[in-house]
Amino acid sequence: MDKKLTILGIETSCDETALALVEASGPFRQDKNETKKNSPIFKVLKNIIASQIKIHKKYGGVVPGLAKREHQKNLIPTLQKVLKLSSSKFQVSSFKLQAIDNILHRYPELLKNFKIKIATRDKPLIDLIAVTHGPGLEPALWVGVNFARALSVLWDIPIIGIDHMEGHVAVNLLNTDYSPIKFPAIALAVSGGHTQLILVKNWMEYELLGETLDDAAGEAFDKVARMLKLPFPGGPHIEKLGKKGDPRKFDLPRPMEKSGDYNFSFSGLKTAVRYTLEKLNKKEIQTQKADMAASFQQAIVDVLISKTIKAAKEYNTKTIMLAGGVAANQKLKKELQEEIKRELPDAQYLVPQIKLATDNGVMIAIAGYLRYQNGYVSDWKVLEANSNKLITEN
Ligand code: KG4
Ligand code: ZN
Repeated sequence: MDKKLTILGIETSCDETALALVEASGPFRQDKNETKKNSPIFKVLKNIIASQIKIHKKYGGVVPGLAKREHQKNLIPTLQKVLKLSSSKFQVSSFKLQAIDNILHRYPELLKNFKIKIATRDKPLIDLIAVTHGPGLEPALWVGVNFARALSVLWDIPIIGIDHMEGHVAVNLLNTDYSPIKFPAIALAVSGGHTQLILVKNWMEYELLGETLDDAAGEAFDKVARMLKLPFPGGPHIEKLGKKGDPRKFDLPRPMEKSGDYNFSFSGLKTAVRYTLEKLNKKEIQTQKADMAASFQQAIVDVLISKTIKAAKEYNTKTIMLAGGVAANQKLKKELQEEIKRELPDAQYLVPQIKLATDNGVMIAIAGYLRYQNGYVSDWKVLEANSNKLITEN
């Protein structure tokens, strides 16, 4: 058994300030001779999410500047919930304080609190910091990245930048009972920003088979929810309302279902919903709202499933994984499972735990372990270069 590592995962790419502490051990990659299986073991010690939904709700979507402001406010209190930090007798060197000033000077409030509430505390037992460095809303992302960099300097521990979507995929490892994932695998990654079909040949060996040409699946859920006057984020509300509706009531398009490739397009579906609603009077909208939610959800789910199954067959994949916020959708999970049973009965099927489907720090810590175990320890310079560049642009 490899040495246990304790990893702090930090995720601020969108509207959640999400931090987690995960203990990890065991190998995390199948080597060429298959002697070393990918069967890591994870224990989630803490998983804290400070959600900004209430703030963005009134705008019907995430406002990047507000997200940045809220992350600055929430990072330290969230870290304090994740870690027990006790007072230190030691003084931090002026050299380190200068470095921290340089990293956080664009966030004066965060810097001030960092010096008072974090830099005066003992170094916690953490071996590694993993932080989302993209893709996402840049002003939001870089608060998290720079906070992670400041912690890394303060505590002298390595830092790894993580791709948000890799995190979403990797969190499926918590559901494997620690048996190795069989490759190749197909991952359907569906979130508010992305819709991707990814061929996972091994961990860290990905091939993008297709993606959305316009709206992401989650974005389509959010926009249609808005048309139906449901709160943001719309996915869970459409799902809830759709349970009371008839999914066959409205004959909506299944865009690109038969396009022959693995790309998606959801803006036509969204427009079809709008046109249909425009033809209804207020009373009809009220009585048929649940039918529309159900019909729209069915159309999206049908397209996602048919392309995933097609890709899994073409690439003879042994595993099918769902990833991203839309993977919280019960209808998608259940109908994909039924289709896999019918079409690919031998395939392993993995879905993230519902509370880990949407953004969280656990997934970033897990992907951090994956990268760390495979020699990615020196992202620091890349992060530094990128963050400096992007910060000046913001
Ligand atoms: O992964 P995520 O938390 O954030 C991004 O990386 O974008 O995904 C958020 C998206 C939102 O668009 C939200 O409406 C959608 O996931 N979502 C759902 C459900 N729960 C969240 N969509 C459909 N059904 C759900 N139950
Ligand atoms: Zn996400």
